[in-house]
Amino acid sequence: MAILTKAPRGTQDILPKDSFQWRFLETVTMETAALFGFKEIRTPTFEHTELFCRSVGDTTDVVQKEMYTFTDKGNRSVTLKPEGTAGAVRAAVEHSLLADALPVKVSYLTSCFRYEKPQAGRLREFHQFGVEMLGSKSPSADAEVIGLANEIFSVLGVKHLALELNSIGCPECRPKYHKALKEYFESRKDELCETCLSRLETNPMRILDCKSPVCSAIAKDAPVVLDFICDECKEHFDGVKARLDSMGIAYTVNPRIVRGLDYYTKTVFEFVTSQIGAQGTVCGGGRYDGLVEELGGAKTPGLGFAMGLERLLLLLAAQENELPAPRPCELYIASIGDAANIKAGELCARLRSEGFYVECDTMERSVKAQMKYANKIGAKMSMVLGDSELESGKAALKDMDTGESAEVSLGDELTQRLYDAGLARATSALTDQIGDAQLLTLLGQDPISE
Ligand code: HAM
Repeated sequence: MAILTKAPRGTQDILPKDSFQWRFLETVTMETAALFGFKEIRTPTFEHTELFCRSVGDTTDVVQKEMYTFTDKGNRSVTLKPEGTAGAVRAAVEHSLLADALPVKVSYLTSCFRYEKPQAGRLREFHQFGVEMLGSKSPSADAEVIGLANEIFSVLGVKHLALELNSIGCPECRPKYHKALKEYFESRKDELCETCLSRLETNPMRILDCKSPVCSAIAKDAPVVLDFICDECKEHFDGVKARLDSMGIAYTVNPRIVRGLDYYTKTVFEFVTSQIGAQGTVCGGGRYDGLVEELGGAKTPGLGFAMGLERLLLLLAAQENELPAPRPCELYIASIGDAANIKAGELCARLRSEGFYVECDTMERSVKAQMKYANKIGAKMSMVLGDSELESGKAALKDMDTGESAEVSLGDELTQRLYDAGLARATSALTDQIGDAQLLTLLGQDPISE
């Protein structure tokens, strides 16, 4: 039955041959955010449906067309999270995080679920790294958050990502813009899709984000929000731009960015590329000064971004960026006979407790087949234990690259030799970019194990 051997459309397995890349991205994003003071938050995979209706917005494509919503056995409507912001803000309000030192800065890695038409870079289950910063209305917070996204891309060596920036105003200036949009779309009412016809009454800005080709063609000539923003929004936007300029972060103002979610106010931004096909937005975010209040908290400004990890990996692959290779097996201990196999297991346990990656036979294979396996897994060193090695307490330690071997005692000398050979150490092209010590820390290894 194909259904048993095929993952649901729009989902993908992350296999062992690729998972190290994921782990690397997850580590780089979270650790870089930590340097800016962001601390991890984990929120549930599903929330009350109402949370997304109120935050993401009833009139958005996400809520109207894409949510995985179901009624649970207790007759509650729940939804698999289509994005990370709503849950993080809900948790901050629920647990009074905002009563602590402001700003509250949280980061997360999460699966998200949207029932969209799958294509390259667009899945039904995808993964986001995101941050939220709550409590600051200053443009310096916008610059800090955009600066973090920029820093992550630079640590990863990603090129050709353009930062596009816009301001979509606040409740003060938005009504004027809505009015202008409404007038414009009224004149082309007959061509709009049915969803957009109702959006014309409820939220005309959402028409700008409609994926139907006809609606998006009409939207191209619609009035742009930057022509309508109030003095305060303009001053804020100027403040953000001045800071990005001083940080040397290049951007273009794109007055057509409105984002697909309703909670945004003032600054919105996207990092886009043309190198991964139609789904070129790798990162999107912005300010949401009304969201905390909307979700029942005290009036508190906020902002953040999320980047799609699938899209980031596609981009890294398109640019042939070298990610650190998975750690190779440092020593394979082959054995002949039961007693030697028991000794191999004992040695493995000791060396692992010292931080080395070692393997031994668990398949009852011949020594020839064991060495074949050692080659297959790319073991850096190997040794064979038999009766004479058990007796002497010594064995030949073989370098699998050069074929050279030298006798070592199976005690401390073995450990020392593995250190001397520079094993238990990750190296890659990225080492040069972010420094040896930092890379080892990122990979969770002790930089002073030599
Ligand atoms: P978003 O633009 O909807 O924003 O999603 C952020 C990123 O998630 C996108 O730029 C894209 O890389 C990725 N993404 C979105 N949908 C898919 C999909 N179907 N398949 C693969 N990747 C996808 C948000 O989600 C906001 N919560 C971001 C934010 C945080 N704003 C403020 N704080």
